[in-house]
Amino acid sequence: MLSPEQVQAWQRDGYLVLPGFKPAAEVAAACARARAIVDAFEPDASTSRFSTQDRSKLADAALLASAETVRCFFEEEALDASGRLRVPKAESINKIGHALHDRDPVFIGFSHGPELDALARDLGLAQPQVWQSQLIFKQPRIGGVVDWHQDGSFFLTTPQTVTTFWFALEDATLANGCLWVKPGAQHDALREQYVCDHASGTLSMQPLDRTPWPTTEGSVPLPAAAGTLVVFGGQLPHYSAPNRSERSRLAYTLHATCGTAAYAPENWLQRSPAFPVRGFV
Ligand code: FE2
Repeated sequence: MLSPEQVQAWQRDGYLVLPGFKPAAEVAAACARARAIVDAFEPDASTSRFSTQDRSKLADAALLASAETVRCFFEEEALDASGRLRVPKAESINKIGHALHDRDPVFIGFSHGPELDALARDLGLAQPQVWQSQLIFKQPRIGGVVDWHQDGSFFLTTPQTVTTFWFALEDATLANGCLWVKPGAQHDALREQYVCDHASGTLSMQPLDRTPWPTTEGSVPLPAAAGTLVVFGGQLPHYSAPNRSERSRLAYTLHATCGTAAYAPENWLQRSPAFPVRGFV
């Protein structure tokens, strides 16, 4: 799957950009399905608002309940003080998660196959296990910042193995909030861990290491045309800017760990025995 040069770049930089990984027809079908899920979604009082700047807002039952289902989450700026939508519903969604890859017919197809399996193995996942899928909307004008973080904070394994598969479903540019990474920083210590006390349903971010977060200085933006797959390791710091442009930036992500590593029981996302985690094929 990967050339020796690509494997070398992966080991050196901690990420790889693979343009044209998904054909245009598959990308179009995924976008259409994302719109259909939003169209069918009926917001109600229990709808969860999602703010990456205030992680305590994640600490609600809606997140935990989404582990095995398909659920919509709003943009922080989509609702006014009284909880009413300020923008049309279709422009108000921040993300949809977290079991699209095992529940939704279109995304089951998008998330599985021998190409992804071969790629995962080339990246070092001998026994890939796909825990999470997310449609991440960066809506025109109101799409929020996602601060610097490491995905390993949310999917701790021993040893650390979580790998992110980030698909551009629309062109991601500097103007609409593409990813930024710090090449080579995949060897940084894990700075924090998102810990769940499953008995009480309490979620909290625990500091682990004081290494400062990168800034855009010394980091690189990863503009990505629709169909591009960006892969990166769980300790690579990354960030994306707000979208103040008129163009939406839709992405789809998968998070996979290696089945030979121990998956932490305090990770928020757990699967019940009736709905076990599985691989790319
Ligand atoms: Fe991330």
